[in-house]
Amino acid sequence: MEKDIIRKDRKKEHIEHYLKSTYRNYTLFEDIYIEHNSLPELNFAEIDTRTNFLGKVVEYPIMINAMTGGTEFSREINRELSKIAKKYNIPMAVGSQTIALKNKDSHKSFKIVRETIGNNGVIIANLSGYASVEEAKYAMDILDADGIQLHLNPAQELVMREGDRDFKGILENIANMITSVEKPVIVKEVGFGISRDVVQRLHKVGVRYVDISGKGGTNFIEIEDGRNDEMDFSDIYSWGIPTALSLIQCKDIGEDLKIISSGGIKTSLDILKSLILGAHMVGIGGMILRKLIEDGYEVADKYMEGLIYKLKVLMALTGSKNIEELKNTPYKIKGVLKDLVE
Ligand SMILES: Cc1cc2nc3c(=O)[nH]c(=O)nc-3n(C[C@H](O)[C@H](O)[C@H](O)COP(=O)(O)O)c2cc1C
Repeated sequence: MEKDIIRKDRKKEHIEHYLKSTYRNYTLFEDIYIEHNSLPELNFAEIDTRTNFLGKVVEYPIMINAMTGGTEFSREINRELSKIAKKYNIPMAVGSQTIALKNKDSHKSFKIVRETIGNNGVIIANLSGYASVEEAKYAMDILDADGIQLHLNPAQELVMREGDRDFKGILENIANMITSVEKPVIVKEVGFGISRDVVQRLHKVGVRYVDISGKGGTNFIEIEDGRNDEMDFSDIYSWGIPTALSLIQCKDIGEDLKIISSGGIKTSLDILKSLILGAHMVGIGGMILRKLIEDGYEVADKYMEGLIYKLKVLMALTGSKNIEELKNTPYKIKGVLKDLVE
């Protein structure tokens, strides 16, 4: 089979295996305790959730994270997800555009996102950390993107039979990208978290946006294991850095560093806690995809509406009338997370 066709089918298989996955890991947000405020000096109607992201104002600090593109099937998914992104004026990233570098037919499955969202919304391109500067510019042009995500996914590649095995030179490649690409570059994981040491190395070479994409949600070891019948990887499904731990360890590396919290974000409480712990933006992947595919657009839309409304409820209950105030909310760390942080 031609490599492009394998890649297109792989994207569909990822979704199928994601929907079948059952193994449960934890983000450890459950170990963050936030106190209730019975005397919030504010008017609920005046709560301001707006934030600045990649040079534009967005209505909520919530984004739809990178998932799909390439085929007709994923064009439909991207269309539905971008309708939600437009409705609530939140950012959206597309899935890996590697296919689009070689196959022009695939472009429409990505372009649909800009067509649906329009010029005012934030849209983010996506390629791997190996991508060249020309490839990154090409991928961004397809979407008229506001920035690009470069994904780091060694765990996924190593479980994938046809995956990459040589991870040398990625940091140097990213460093070069930062100086050559005008738009913001976000370095992201795909669900295994990023350690403090890695974020420090990224920050040193100029990376200012990191999506930690930690453990607790989508599990690409399990997904790739489902596609690989040569070996059973189920004994390492627990691998990775829980999202809350990754966030705590990386948030104070630089004042100019913006962290996107993602990986296992399901509820407005996860979003609230991410913001209180220092995230600039919070990404949702698998949960909204599952709602969309299994229950349809209306349910996915209602889910986003609920997340947003309940985020405002929780902001009120911490006495925060905007995101800046929310970030000053005190919190306590308990249980397993406390042991790991210490
Ligand atoms: C079906 C599927 C496909 C994905 N494809 C990509 C991708 O192409 N590029 C990427 O950077 N991340 C990809 N991701 C990872 C997500 O962007 C996110 O980092 C990860 O799923 C953790 O978030 P979640 O637990 O909310 O899903 C994909 C996730 C899913 C569920």
